[in-house]
Amino acid sequence: MKKTILVLPGDGIGPEVIKQTLRVLDVIDTDHAFHITHGLIGGAAYDQYQQHFPTQTEQLCHQADAILFGSVGGPVEQSHHNKWQDCERNSILALRQTLNLAINMRPAKLYPALQDISPLKNQRLAGCEEILIIRELLGDIYFGEHRQYNHNELRFASDLATYNEQQIRKAAEYAFQAARLRNSKVTSVDKANVLATSKLWRTVVSEVALEYPDVLLEHMLVDNCAMQLILNPAQFGVIVTANLFGDILSDAASALPGSLGMMPSASFGANGIGLYEPSGGSAPDIAGQNTANPMAQILSLALLLRHSFAMTAQATQIENAIEHVLKAGFRTVDIYDEGYNLVSCSEFTDQVIHALTL
Ligand code: IPM
Ligand code: MG
Repeated sequence: MKKTILVLPGDGIGPEVIKQTLRVLDVIDTDHAFHITHGLIGGAAYDQYQQHFPTQTEQLCHQADAILFGSVGGPVEQSHHNKWQDCERNSILALRQTLNLAINMRPAKLYPALQDISPLKNQRLAGCEEILIIRELLGDIYFGEHRQYNHNELRFASDLATYNEQQIRKAAEYAFQAARLRNSKVTSVDKANVLATSKLWRTVVSEVALEYPDVLLEHMLVDNCAMQLILNPAQFGVIVTANLFGDILSDAASALPGSLGMMPSASFGANGIGLYEPSGGSAPDIAGQNTANPMAQILSLALLLRHSFAMTAQATQIENAIEHVLKAGFRTVDIYDEGYNLVSCSEFTDQVIHALTL
């Protein structure tokens, strides 16, 4: 039976980078081994159903073997409009929860061909090839109670952060296994000098480490980690951290290669379904201009093929094609530098497709 990939383009640059990525899939999947379904999510779903994650889309999710997700959300200054109000929470966060996607992995890969656009001096990047961030995705301040209230004529707000040991254990196990495969150490990042959730995090990660005596574990406070990512990124192999710290640190790490537009991500759940999405947002300011960098989305497809369908050769083929295009000097505007070939989202993809057929 054919495997089903559900495509959820969402908002902002989502639809245009998804469109290009499906062109790449067409080249890879010549014998149409996949059944592709399409659904609405985020503001795009709101337009039709007045809901950010309608039941129609939820049903499609349950029928899929893997999900290729674009991005959701609109301009922050319009977040008071119904269409955008709580859009992220009602769509991608609800989807992660519905599918029990507890683990998220985000590779920050340093491309030699892009060395000149890294904000760091080259000597700081020496020896740094890839940092893999494992982010716990269903706990923490994201999913605790959110409140806004008045008391004694003052406005208050509170967000509750919670973790249980099973959630932490799952993330830690994934990180140790990934580190074992890459022959690298695990850096567990927390704020254990202040937060109770972080104290539990540190205890549980240390317990899991006993089951992986061959993998080195170090603990690092999150403020120090933010600094170390800039001072000495080469010291990191696998970073494992809680939901909010993972959100922030993965954006920081994505800047090392030069642009958030290049970082894919994969999220895994208990029932085997994987969701693959760029680590960045919907970038409404550049939406519809065909200027977005499609790399994060195309690389998310590569992760989908590798992790959901064990199509390692095809995944590697896509990753190599991207490297080839970068080496040949084609760059979208976010990674553009003088002397290179400035290309649009679709032209960059044309080059990737060309490289795939070489
Ligand atoms: C991410 C995004 C999301 C998150 C937003 C869109 C809710 O920033 O995937 O990193 O915070 O998880
Ligand atoms: Mg984020």
